[in-house]
Amino acid sequence: MQYKDLVDQRLAVWRDEPGALLPLLHDIQADLGYIPADCVPVIARALGLSRAEVHGVISFYHDLRTRPPGRHVLQVCRAEACQAVGARELESHAQATLGVDFGDTTADGALTLEPVYCLGNCACGPSVRIDDAVHGRVDAHRLDVLLAQLQDGAE
Ligand code: FES
Repeated sequence: MQYKDLVDQRLAVWRDEPGALLPLLHDIQADLGYIPADCVPVIARALGLSRAEVHGVISFYHDLRTRPPGRHVLQVCRAEACQAVGARELESHAQATLGVDFGDTTADGALTLEPVYCLGNCACGPSVRIDDAVHGRVDAHRLDVLLAQLQDGAE
């Protein structure tokens, strides 16, 4: 199915619902992994919004992507509780190890590094999520181990 057909299907579900934009965007991202730029005018027109309004929501929410993610996604928690126990060092380590900044994907397409603002695991920070799995008390060494396991696994 073309992604435009998929967007049309999602619009058919959400178009008449109040507050449709955010759940619609999340549905599209769940299906495609990101929100293609071509979708923005289509969504804006269907919901009676301006393109700027749709762009504004997409750029406000850190969990909405505008580019396809890598095969895996590493999210490092940047919220206060994790920062208080070493998340900043972990961020720097992740960026240096992977050679990418937040929002970027490694050159081989294996992994996208993203910030996240609380994973509900505050008591066990620093926290990261790799794909669907949350890991707590992650320091640089543990992150290296988790990333190595990823390479050994479903690549
Ligand atoms: S602050 Fe990091 S998991 Fe809540």
